[in-house]
Amino acid sequence: MNTIHIALLGYGTVGKGVYQTIKNHQSRFKALLGSEVKIAAVLVRNIERHHLPDQDVLLTTNFEDILQLPKLDVVVDAIVGSEPSFTYLQAAIKKGCHVITANKEMFAHHGGQLKALADQHQVSIGFEATVAGGIPVIQTLNTLLNINKITKLEGILNGTSNFILTKMRQEDLSFADALKLAQELGYAELDPTNDVEGIDAFYKAMILSQVVFGEQPQWNDVQRKGITEITAEKIKLFSGIGLRFKHVACLEKTETGIKCSIKPVLVSQTHPLYQVEGVQNAISIDADIVGNIAIQGPGAGMFPTASAVVEDFIHLYNPIQSTQYQEAQKKKAAAAPINWIITGEGLGQFKANVPLNSVKVLHPRVLLASGVEEDFANYVKEDPKLEYFQVFGEVNLLGKSKDNKIFIKI
Ligand code: HSE
Repeated sequence: MNTIHIALLGYGTVGKGVYQTIKNHQSRFKALLGSEVKIAAVLVRNIERHHLPDQDVLLTTNFEDILQLPKLDVVVDAIVGSEPSFTYLQAAIKKGCHVITANKEMFAHHGGQLKALADQHQVSIGFEATVAGGIPVIQTLNTLLNINKITKLEGILNGTSNFILTKMRQEDLSFADALKLAQELGYAELDPTNDVEGIDAFYKAMILSQVVFGEQPQWNDVQRKGITEITAEKIKLFSGIGLRFKHVACLEKTETGIKCSIKPVLVSQTHPLYQVEGVQNAISIDADIVGNIAIQGPGAGMFPTASAVVEDFIHLYNPIQSTQYQEAQKKKAAAAPINWIITGEGLGQFKANVPLNSVKVLHPRVLLASGVEEDFANYVKEDPKLEYFQVFGEVNLLGKSKDNKIFIKI
């Protein structure tokens, strides 16, 4: 079997998450790509601080070792800050590797240059993990951008800030204690200044602007304010009148250019961002054809971010799913018992054709039963008076018959 070789730059929260996710989901990669996926090397700053679970993975502090690997297909950037990440990724692209980055600061500064370089060398760049953790916002925007025109975006883009504001309100914690908790849980950046001063959200907003509008606003024109001046007293006061502080990034295309602000705002119950709590991020997108779409999910943390990286990885390879995998998926879907209503005039006939105890009569013309669609399709296909409908929602199941059909309590 073919093997895809990956080098991982950085072994902090995100790096470890990517390492473990790739290691723990080999069978999924094999099924999707028809290839094994192997972490060949990990680049760290200080070798003494790290220990890898696998002996055969190179742990190095020297990026040249990565470039010299005999086989290298993809470089995953899980380090923080513009440099040395930008330099490393340029070298990787020039060597013909695909790159995936979770590094928002670097990508906000240099995304355009990296993309141009990648085009030149016919490799791809994945950057889903740079914005909103595990939420597939970049994929969503790319899908929307074909015919729709996006006019406005509003988002909670920093999990740490949202976590802090939520904990301060819900548990009456001080800013410092809530921040400490966010750091312990691995949400915050190494230097949490970027989180609490809105710098992290700013980088993310710039990346979104580039994706949506093809350009960024002048950085100096962006109004940016963090959450450090939000006190427990203010939170309590506004909470008492039904308002919550949320740290929101807004991007809007106006006649005079792109307008962008990143600041704490007070949100009322009627706004979609009101109920976005804890480390959750959310993005509300206004597009001219579809209207408003809002997506929400975990905005930080080891596995949500790793999820974005590995999904990017799959998209890089643009896999044509193996026939074996497709067949397995079909079988899995077909085998899952589903609840059905069968109705129509020929019901007496239908009832006689199925095992007696696998159906329940709801009405002389309505039966409820469970099983795979194929069964019901076969039963009704010869009688145009019969119809069947899938039932959505949970029903109380009584148990299984010997033939594995499920009885339903009505
Ligand atoms: N520190 C970032 C946050 C991590 O809290 O959102 C994810 O980018």
